[in-house]
Formats: sequence, C-alpha cells, structure tokens
Amino acid sequence: MVVCPDIRGERYDLAADERLDEARGLALAIGLVIADSIVIPVRDVKPNTLFGSGQVENIAIACEQNAIDLVTVDGALSPIQQRNLEDKLKRKVIDRTGLILEIFGERAATAEGRLQVELAHLDYQQSRLVRSWTHLERQRGGFGFLGGPGETQIEADRRMIRQRMGRLRRELEQVRRTRTLHRERRERAPWPVIALVGYTNAGKSTLFNRLTGANVMAEDLLFATLDPTMRGIELPGVTKAILSDTVGFISDLPTQLVAAFRATLEEVTAADVICHVRDMSSEAAEAQKAQVMAVLEDLGVAGNEDGEGDIPILEVWNKWDALTAEQMDELAPFASDSRDVVAVSALTGDGVEDLETHLGAMLTSSAQTIEVEIPAADGRRLAWLHAHGEVLSDRPVDGDDSVRTIRVRLNAKELGQFETLSPA
Ligand code: GTP
Repeated sequence: MVVCPDIRGERYDLAADERLDEARGLALAIGLVIADSIVIPVRDVKPNTLFGSGQVENIAIACEQNAIDLVTVDGALSPIQQRNLEDKLKRKVIDRTGLILEIFGERAATAEGRLQVELAHLDYQQSRLVRSWTHLERQRGGFGFLGGPGETQIEADRRMIRQRMGRLRRELEQVRRTRTLHRERRERAPWPVIALVGYTNAGKSTLFNRLTGANVMAEDLLFATLDPTMRGIELPGVTKAILSDTVGFISDLPTQLVAAFRATLEEVTAADVICHVRDMSSEAAEAQKAQVMAVLEDLGVAGNEDGEGDIPILEVWNKWDALTAEQMDELAPFASDSRDVVAVSALTGDGVEDLETHLGAMLTSSAQTIEVEIPAADGRRLAWLHAHGEVLSDRPVDGDDSVRTIRVRLNAKELGQFETLSPA
C-alpha cells in the first residue's frame, strides 16, 4: 500500500496527486505490486504516528482488506513514528528515504555509486538504532571485545557504524581517484559520449535498450565491465558513440541522499550531448523538467549566462504513443517546430530513427579545437589533418624542427577518425 501524506503547511514541489503518482512509480521501480494507494491529508503531525488515530485505523482496515504486506509512506518518518506504525498496522512500514535507498542500492552501477549509497544507508540506520540494534549485533559476530566497560549496546553499535562509515569514505576517495582516470581515458578515447538523463519512469532504460538494440559491439566488453550502463552505438555519420544511462531523478529528494545521487550523475559532465528523456504523458512533465534543468545547471553543464562549457541538450519527448488527444494537440506543433526536441515512443520505436539522425547531426556539428604534436616525418597524419580538419596553425615545436605543433578544429566524428590513425 502506497500512502502519500499531504501535510498542511509543508512546501512540496508537486501537487498531492502528482506526488502519489510518483510514489507509485518509485514502488514499481523496485518491483513492488501495488494493491492500494491513497493521499491522506495531515492537519497536525502526530509525533508518535504522523497520522491521526482514525487515519491509522483506516490504513489498517485497507491493509486487511487487500492482504497488504508492506506500507510505504511517501514522506519522512521519525524512527519512533515508523516503529509505532509498524506496531499498530502489524506490517512492515518504510518511508520515502528508505524506499529511495532501496532503489539507489539496486541501481547503483559504479563503485562510487555503491559506496555513496551504502554511506547514506548507514547514516539512515544510525538514527534508527533504537529499532535495529539486535540485527546489528548479529552481524557484529566476533567483535564483542570492542565494547569497553559500561558501554551500552547502542553506543557500541553507533561506534561500529561510524567506523564503517570512516572506512567507506576512505574507499570512496580511492575510487574517485581511479574513476577520474577512467573518465579521463574516456575523454581521450576517440568516441563521443551521449548521456541519457531524466526523471525516474521517463523511459530512459527502455530507450537505452532500444538504441543499443541487438547490435552491442564486441569491443564494448571493456566498457561493459567497467560500467554496465554504457554501450557503443552507431549513428548516422558517426561510426561509434558511447551511450551512457544515468540514475533517474526523484522529486523532493531527501537531503541525506543528494550526495549519492550526485555521484551517480557526475558522468554527465563528461558527455558531448545530453539527451533529456521526458515522459510527456505525465501531468507533472513541466515541473519535472524544471528540476532536471536546475540540477544540470548546478552540475555546470547547462544554461550558464555566457553559454561557456555548456553541453548541448536534446529533449526527447517520450511516451508519444500514450498522449491524450488534448496533449497531442497541445504538444505536436512544438515538437515539429523545435530543433531541440524529438518526439518518440521508446516502447513502439516510433521516432527513434529520427532521434538517431538528430544525435548524429549534433555530434558531427560540434567542432572543437585541439592542439597536437606530430613528428614531421609522420606525413600521413599531417596530411590527414590538413585534408579533413580546419588547420588554424602548423609550426615547428620550439627549437625542434622534427616535431610540429598543429592547432586544428575537428568535429567529434573527425576527432574519432583521427585518433584511430596510428602514428608513423
Ligand atoms: P528508472 O530506471 O526508474 O529511472 O526509469 P526509466 O526512466 O529507465 O524508465 P523505464 O524505461 O524503466 O520505463 C518506465 C515505464 O514506462 C515502463 O513501464 C515502460 O514500459 C514505460 N515506457 C517507456 N517508454 C514508453 C513509451 O514510449 N510509451 C509508453 N506508453 N510507455 C513507455
């Protein structure tokens, strides 16, 4: 059962029914089967149970009627509230943070993402020790000697969690160093990167699978082992680009989870093109877009004043097949007029060819200036650059006639081709 409290005086990003929709989406995202879902208005927050006693009674009745195993409350529950609700409902209860942690835990694809999620999990658990210390004690096994005289069980457990968190932070540092290496390697790799971003449930995974399809290339095994959310794809005019999937956005993200979410999203800053996948059939489509853009701005990849460092963003208007006639009338003119929008259905495949053409064009049009040093004897690569790129300068390296410094503008495709030419 999905319960969405609507607390008077609380500031929410979305309206109550939109939040209920999202809460349902979150539950579905980890494979829960939803038997019932409801918005419950809360006038005064009850410190012990959040909801009033009549409301708790109603939830209990609904649980009985629908043979419900788990109640998710789409808001923050204090440890006491969670325990009391579990007592009264005689069922497991998790709150929004708990649910999102489950999702991140399932989705975290990179080592850094996994560590960040575990850190957030421990942090969350730390505040819930009242309830879970017996479970921790079991895990603790042979470490009983750690507790000093007079130290209570909970203090010992707190200390154990702190130590584990300290270890995780150090591991995280280590992973960050190696990950930067991977990213640098990829930045230097000859292939442009396309990052898929968007709200949870927008259809990113469906689109990812549709675009990568059956033709996953053998040499991608390297990337697949580094990170299962990256695949090579072929696009019109581009022999190979890397498509990178990211963890979905969630509205009103609990603050403890922001770092974990960011860690999984940092990949985006290394992309050549960002594909913003939107569920246009959702009532909340506009509010969701605003939030995605705000985070992209925070990451420094979109919309800064002078436009520098911006990564081009293509909006993918997904779920076109699911639009109502009204939505279609409203959106169709924009979709056909705007250069930065492609309408698709990841589900049926409609519009996906058009999307591929768009992406190919974006990658081949974005030229960049690079500076390379090439031995004067390497006539083949020198000639290639002059033939294919726009050479801005070509001069000998100071005091050394045998090496030349070339400044040249190349688009992503040409850059890729150039980097595959082996030096003489
Ligand atoms: P997260 O992994 O939670 O971030 O979600 P996601 O953005 O990857 O969404 P996913 O691809 O899992 O799709 C979510 C739901 O939307 C699934 O039930 C899909 O079948 C459905 N869906 C995706 N694309 C379309 C579409 O074009 N049309 C329709 N009608 N449904 C779609």
